Amino acid sequence: MNRDVIIACDFATGEETLAFLDRFPEGEKPFVKIGMELFYAEGPEIVRQLKARGHRIFLDLKLHDIPNTVKKAMAVLSRLDVDIANLHAAGTIEMMKAAREGLTRPDGTRPLLIAVTQLTSTSEERMQKELLINASINDTVIHYARNAKEAGLDGVVCSPLEAGMVKEACGKEFLTVTPGIRFADGDRGDQVRVTTPEKAREIGTDYIVVGRPITAAADPVAAYRRCVKEFVG
Ligand code: C5P
Repeated sequence: MNRDVIIACDFATGEETLAFLDRFPEGEKPFVKIGMELFYAEGPEIVRQLKARGHRIFLDLKLHDIPNTVKKAMAVLSRLDVDIANLHAAGTIEMMKAAREGLTRPDGTRPLLIAVTQLTSTSEERMQKELLINASINDTVIHYARNAKEAGLDGVVCSPLEAGMVKEACGKEFLTVTPGIRFADGDRGDQVRVTTPEKAREIGTDYIVVGRPITAAADPVAAYRRCVKEFVG
């Protein structure tokens, strides 16, 4: 298992992102997550820049469209040489299969591909009333994770509190990438279902995605190292 900490670089500009990463010493290259805000602001160039600096990259663009469109979009992303890409499992197994095909480069290699199950911002009540999904959040997450596995994906993004049951349903090798991490003595911000890096390690998740506890810390490098120490050991 590749247990690691991924820093969510939720910055509005490339300049802020590079200034943040410049705080780390030359030899220390954290795994970073680039989300929609930064990607839409800076385009593929920010991915190339961070890759050239030696960072591993989780490109969190959460694709969701008809299979053919997602396949073609993934083919474009495959040229960026990111380490992890993602999409919404709600796009169906057919869409996920098409995405995997699109992401596979001519030489057969491809970045890891993971699926968002149910966003942690969606409550069970809204899911049932607005989306007309007549099941519990847990059952939906497990069902979507199984669909992702059937489509040949490598894992899912889920709440750390769901990672254990995803592993049980889909196997130990099926990756879980989990946001919603807070230090035991830290501020929760707008996250509700949170857990500590230590607890995430106990649950057995593969990657934790940590934003504000690191990016908003007075000493981000120290906060990152604390996270690595508690989660990776
Ligand atoms: O600052 P914080 O640690 O809450 O950041 C968590 C990161 O994980 C953010 O980039 C957020 O968008 C992302 N995320 C999340 N919950 C999800 C999916 C992604 O918090 N279900």
